[in-house]
Amino acid sequence: DAGRGAYPHYMLKEIYEQPETLANAMRGRLTEADSTAHFGGLNLSAQQLRQIDRVVMTACGTSYHAAMVGEYLFEELARLPVEVEYASELRYRNPPMDRNTVVLALTQSGETADTLAALRESKRMGHTTLAICNAVGSSIAREADGGVYLHAGAEIGVASTKAFTSQVAVLTMLALYLGRTRHLSSTQGQRIIDDLHALPEAVRQALRCHDHVKRVAAKYAHAKNVLYLGRQYLYPVALEGALKLKEISYIHAEGYPAAEMKHGPIALVDPNTPSVFLVPRGSVFDKVMSNMQEIKARGGPVIAIASAGDREVAAVADDVIAIPDVPEYLQPIVTAIPLQLLAYEVALLCGCDVDKPRNLAKSVTVE
Ligand code: G6P
Repeated sequence: DAGRGAYPHYMLKEIYEQPETLANAMRGRLTEADSTAHFGGLNLSAQQLRQIDRVVMTACGTSYHAAMVGEYLFEELARLPVEVEYASELRYRNPPMDRNTVVLALTQSGETADTLAALRESKRMGHTTLAICNAVGSSIAREADGGVYLHAGAEIGVASTKAFTSQVAVLTMLALYLGRTRHLSSTQGQRIIDDLHALPEAVRQALRCHDHVKRVAAKYAHAKNVLYLGRQYLYPVALEGALKLKEISYIHAEGYPAAEMKHGPIALVDPNTPSVFLVPRGSVFDKVMSNMQEIKARGGPVIAIASAGDREVAAVADDVIAIPDVPEYLQPIVTAIPLQLLAYEVALLCGCDVDKPRNLAKSVTVE
């Protein structure tokens, strides 16, 4: 276990590596000269690139949540229609897709059996396939027509952390790249590049919430159910936060679009069921605030992940974990940090084996 260095668990080491792994994902890929991103291994001709009119993203687990963030990113930055589907489902569907639909597989390990099978089936049907992958030379990296590596280094903790944030960073760069071949101006492209350059520092700042997260974890570690709620870009992050908690602490957690909770999960709300709200400042802030008030009105404790110094949130939530301000499309990466730490700290308090949770495997090679 020498690879852990001074860290008690791989998961914690990997959480703390993120400022660096994000910088590695971006290194050499953002060019000021043409205000876009470049990738060595996409293997797309200029004509193929222009013809892409739809993207189907497919993955499992945490990688699937990164793909869901990708849907929002591609829609906003590249104006491309995206469908996200679990690899295990895509494979047995027969969705109508034309030749200009690119299939993008996301996978940390590059060995997940369902994702590999979905990729093979897509290739068989004549689609161009791309992969966003961490493990160099893995099956999916080799079999896809082209792809982008994360360069995040080995991820050992079974619960994926740094791979998720790097996947989202690569998706942002891909959206920039595709957007720049379509409608994004060089000024808009340059702004995205500047935002991305500032990201590792924002993540470093976000990590400073750790001590506070520890105290919050101690308050809620006895919970049997936890809700995670967010909207738009932060809806997939709510799913990911819930997955992290489930995976390593065995506490039941559900992620939901914050407004949709009133159509079911709100029935679970009581003084013993905390809700984690993702509510940094942004276009849906007021809407999420009113969802948060609905939960408070029903006696549910609220933990808010919010912009540093936000008094409006502090007036409603029981606990506030502060994150630095970043543009909305980068909030998934920054808000993921406190959720990873929260899951980690709760799991420790529950006495769970954080790096090797029961029944889970780092890479699932059966379908
Ligand atoms: C397993 C792991 C998860 C991971 C998922 C997909 O379930 O425990 O952490 O997100 O597989 O793995 P992949 O390597 O394809 O990203």
